[in-house]
Amino acid sequence: MEEKKKFYITTPIYYPSDKLHIGHTYCTVATDTLARYHRLKGEDVMFLTGTDEHGQKIEDKAREAGVTPKEFVDAIVEGPRGVKDLWKLMNISNDRFIRTTDGYHVAAIQKIFKKMYDNGDIYKGTYKGKYCKPCESFWTESQLVDGKCPDCGREVMDAEEEAYFFRLSKYAGRIRDLLENTDFLQPRSRVNEMIRNFIDPGLEDLCVSRTSFTWGVPVDFDPGHVVYVWVDALFNYTTALGFMNDQYSDYDKYWPADVHIVGKEIVRFHSIIWPAMLMSMGLPLPKHVFGHGWLLLDGGKMSKSKGNVVDPYILAEQFGVDALRFFLMRTFPFGSDGNFSNEALINTINVDLANDLGNLVSRTTAMVGKYFGGQLPEGSAEAVSAQPFDGELIGMVSGLRDRYEEAMEAFAPHKALDEVFKVIQRANKYIDENAPWALAKDMDQNGMRLAHVLYNLLEAGRICGILLTPFMPESMAKLFTQIGAPEAAQTWESAAVWGSLPAGSAVTKGENLFPRLDLEKALSALEAAEAESRKAALPAVEIEPFLTEQVDFDTFCKSDFRAVKVKACENVKKSNKLLRFTLDDGSGTDRQILSGIAMYYKPEELVGKTLVAIVNLPPRKMMGLESCGMLISAVHTEGGEEKLHLIMVDDAIPAGAKLC
Ligand code: MSP
Repeated sequence: MEEKKKFYITTPIYYPSDKLHIGHTYCTVATDTLARYHRLKGEDVMFLTGTDEHGQKIEDKAREAGVTPKEFVDAIVEGPRGVKDLWKLMNISNDRFIRTTDGYHVAAIQKIFKKMYDNGDIYKGTYKGKYCKPCESFWTESQLVDGKCPDCGREVMDAEEEAYFFRLSKYAGRIRDLLENTDFLQPRSRVNEMIRNFIDPGLEDLCVSRTSFTWGVPVDFDPGHVVYVWVDALFNYTTALGFMNDQYSDYDKYWPADVHIVGKEIVRFHSIIWPAMLMSMGLPLPKHVFGHGWLLLDGGKMSKSKGNVVDPYILAEQFGVDALRFFLMRTFPFGSDGNFSNEALINTINVDLANDLGNLVSRTTAMVGKYFGGQLPEGSAEAVSAQPFDGELIGMVSGLRDRYEEAMEAFAPHKALDEVFKVIQRANKYIDENAPWALAKDMDQNGMRLAHVLYNLLEAGRICGILLTPFMPESMAKLFTQIGAPEAAQTWESAAVWGSLPAGSAVTKGENLFPRLDLEKALSALEAAEAESRKAALPAVEIEPFLTEQVDFDTFCKSDFRAVKVKACENVKKSNKLLRFTLDDGSGTDRQILSGIAMYYKPEELVGKTLVAIVNLPPRKMMGLESCGMLISAVHTEGGEEKLHLIMVDDAIPAGAKLC
């Protein structure tokens, strides 16, 4: 038997420093779509993803959270709504998941580091320069942009310490050649960026160990040093196959990788540092690195710190996993940046999925049901009184798989979808051209022609369904059931063979694959869900920290707390905060207190209530009115909202009673 073609594809391994957002999801969905496409073609695919769990940022975050770094990352990777849950929800079909804290990986990294040290490519020196903590990146002064990190634009800090260096400079010529003279790095625009920003200014040796924190792979021959997180992270692509460890044994089978899919800001690591280290180790280089663009929000990169994160869980729950997967691949040319918006998502669902694809399937299956009881007669695949538009449709569909394949091979899933949707639109036009409802008026005369028209539509739907499977696996399985396509008519091979659908297949009009959405309603439901989830993420009840400073008893006794009965209460003019209280304090003379609680109480609900006030504070003027004392209330935060309750006491307590 002919051996299957191997295809090894990876996503970047994610930092579990925060929950993942739609930008991370974009990268993984794209990789998953490509992996599924290669499986559809019958290849032996290895698809790897995972998490990159070391580094100072994680150490710091864990300290802030009061847990160990491992506990911190465990919660984000394995916990509810964590990384693994998200990939399951998004139907990500990775064959393996690596965590860089896995023991086999840590041990392998130590061996790899030692090997590069032994061959002279890693040496000890002093690191002086700048460090961007959020990016875990070292920079030289000349690489900074306006004194800030060139990747993220944030402040960098001075750093000086004894450290190990990797002889990156030694590989500059070979890297330039790799970038300029091969198709290793794609799209081509990324090559120009790398040459201009990093190769032309001259490659400097890279600092590959740290001593200022401990959360990393220890350099086993020099205690106190931990391996630079990018060295640790990049080699995941090989350790997850079993390189320098016994956990797995697929290294010889799958390495070198066919493609590493990465976001544009980490192209530098994958196209310069990574191949240089592989050269140093004497290992083959991956065939391609593809640097995709960013999903932007309001023109800026998504990041938790900017507070404009879009939660993939909410989007998938509101619109369905397949619709979300499709939107990401359809809307943003892979390789360029794109603006994410909820409106664009809803419009894509309505136009492409509900209108074009959904309508094609539901109209066709409904007509097969209505005119033929759900089963076309034998012979309906055969041309009956062929019309020019039959040939046009069939010609377009027959060449679709090749055009799609060309786009997918060029890492352009958006172009592949473009081809599929041109066919779907053509098929919808074919319905109108043939006016099946008119043909159905005379079934004796036109019955076979009508059956042929519907067969052509089912065939067009089937072939589009096959090619859309890597994008929307669950929905396309439903489509196959509705059009009655047997397994043999769902294969990659059959996508190039017009007429693979048996004419008498049982067709059923099932549920609408993609219901149409009302833009306004969908937007407000989304906003409500987002608000709900923000609220749920906040601690339920927060109370003020306790004071550590003590107060002596005599001082405490100096505060005169009294029960006071509200005789009158009104809003203070021109203030939306202050209420003016007229109080009976038992002395026979009314007491006036002003209190900034108008957003919590309406004046009328307080009249007649007995409250607690401290009455021996020096009088204060507020908005020209004198306040003689202060009302006591309880405050706390709930779901992020500040709450306040006046202390009210029993009616049995007379005005003026002292509280002690
Ligand atoms: N841990 C490194 C990767 C190491 S690979 C050996 C890392 N992790 S990350 O979690 O910060 O990012 C993972 C991927 O998500 C990157 O490819 C990054 O470009 C991508 N994205 C993060 N935000 C993104 C957008 N807003 N848009 C598109 N992709 C984005 O980098």
